[in-house]
Amino acid sequence: MKNIYILSCLTLLNSCSAFKTSGPYEKEIHYVSLAKGQTKADHEKVTEKINIATQGSFATKAAYETFKKGGNIIDAATTASFVLAVERPQSTGIGGGGFALYHDANRGKDFPLTVDFREKAPINAHEKMFLDDKGEVISRMSLDGIFSAGVPGMVAGMLELHKEHGKLPLETVMQAAIKLARDGFTIYPELAYAISKRENIIKRYKATCAIFCDKNGDILKEGDKLVQSDLSKTLKIISKKGRDGFYKGTIAKALVGEHRRLKGLMTQKDLDKYEVKYRDPIRGDYKGYEVFSMSPPSSGGVHIIEILNILRKDDLKTYGVQHSKTVHLRASAMQAAFSDRASYLGDTDFTYVPVTGLTSKKYADDVRYSIPENKALNSVWSNMNDPSKYEAKEDRELVNKYESPETTHFTIADGKGNVFVSTQTLNGYLGSGVIVPGTGILLNNEMDDFATKPGANNLFGAVGGEKNLVQPEKRPLSSMSPTIVTKDGKAVLGLGSPSGTRILTCVVQTIMNYLDHDMPLYESIAATRVHHQWKPNVLYVEESGLPARTIKDLKRMEHEIEYKKLGCRVQAISFEDGKLRGVSDPRGRGLVLGE
Ligand code: DON
Repeated sequence: MKNIYILSCLTLLNSCSAFKTSGPYEKEIHYVSLAKGQTKADHEKVTEKINIATQGSFATKAAYETFKKGGNIIDAATTASFVLAVERPQSTGIGGGGFALYHDANRGKDFPLTVDFREKAPINAHEKMFLDDKGEVISRMSLDGIFSAGVPGMVAGMLELHKEHGKLPLETVMQAAIKLARDGFTIYPELAYAISKRENIIKRYKATCAIFCDKNGDILKEGDKLVQSDLSKTLKIISKKGRDGFYKGTIAKALVGEHRRLKGLMTQKDLDKYEVKYRDPIRGDYKGYEVFSMSPPSSGGVHIIEILNILRKDDLKTYGVQHSKTVHLRASAMQAAFSDRASYLGDTDFTYVPVTGLTSKKYADDVRYSIPENKALNSVWSNMNDPSKYEAKEDRELVNKYESPETTHFTIADGKGNVFVSTQTLNGYLGSGVIVPGTGILLNNEMDDFATKPGANNLFGAVGGEKNLVQPEKRPLSSMSPTIVTKDGKAVLGLGSPSGTRILTCVVQTIMNYLDHDMPLYESIAATRVHHQWKPNVLYVEESGLPARTIKDLKRMEHEIEYKKLGCRVQAISFEDGKLRGVSDPRGRGLVLGE
């Protein structure tokens, strides 16, 4: 039974604070307020048959229409993916990729299907491609332009899922995206902001400016209309021809042609060889629940389980969700996880990752032991525990085999107990900035998620290790964490978020708020979040803040505190007493619908 909270809006750092009115541990809790112009009704819905939480109002509405036409949640998810690709070009698109977990209630206690449609490095890519003659990283080469783009996987992934698990024809589920791209929509503040941030790169490419500039060559602004006619035509071709409509024929020719023109690396062979991968999810047991999340090439699942394991014996509920002790332990566990991320994570198709060690409880206990109770881990701290020691012998033997503020998430669930979670991205705002002429396809800049050289930082400041260096056909390390929590094989919660390295810490905090602190789902999402990623040695706190005493105590523990927007937009659905509760993060402009 969830505790009752009463929201009382105190204007403190532009936030609402809430005070728990019942339960044995009265604690002050700070929450964010809704984004400007948003209503709580749009961000939370309790339904029975279907529930859809996405970051785009067109996407949520269209996915709901698909359901009403007789579609199942995979049909609805396919609609949502393609509409989001039109509605949120700053975040996702058919030139990008992603991950998804699908819990099919009929499969009982089986793993959720875990699907990897992440971009791949082109066959011609190599370890030193972003370095100059002196071995220095060439500024922005992995972020802007043709070399920053990996081989797209989104179309292959969603089409394969739809083919295997959908009910309605592809043309039906893609109709809304085709129409939205053709008719256009009014540019909203976040999209306008992304366009303004990428003005230089937009103006560098004629085909990109043709979409994001007006007839005078100035970039589009909030309130202008964004029409994507070429994208509409491309989507129509895909809806008729399926995967081949994108990876072969005229569209593929245009894509490869643009690479050739710009002396890029991608060839038809890259498109032919793109394959969707089915992975085993990362699994953890946490306080009687099973938690499933994305496996490498995402770091998300490994570190979510690692953090939960490290903290599993601490009675954080007794302290309170925003008590300095809770925040200190959460931050320290995050720090340990990110130290491991830099050392051990990469694409398991290419490099050995000690997954079972990193997610073992014994390893977590050793890490927990090295976290001081009342003192921040300092800047030179690095996790000296070795996860490989906790691997089973068979896992260790695998070592030999291998020697040699935009993304989008949506969650859809139905009354039968099925849940689908997917995080999809182009990486940075408007990806690489390159639109393939005549196709409307905006290419990703996912190559920046590789380590350009060991120790170098990516867009999100994440430190890159040897295991995440560029290799032909490798998938860059991600933090995207579509996650499903079950109990006795039945879905309890599905969730995920955008925002780079913050994704996994936002997801883990939401899970802990909901499961440990018994907070209602909306409040679990709205509560102020913190983030620590080891380097820099900074404890980021959202601008909605924490209780004054917590901040004072954290400073006394020598935490370096900085206030920052973390960018997460959690989209979650919980299963509660036969009902579906969907919540779209109040920080964003998402929409929840259902019936
Ligand atoms: O895969 C990753 O972890 C990143 N490419 C995700 C990028 C992201 O979330 C950007 N923004 N909000």
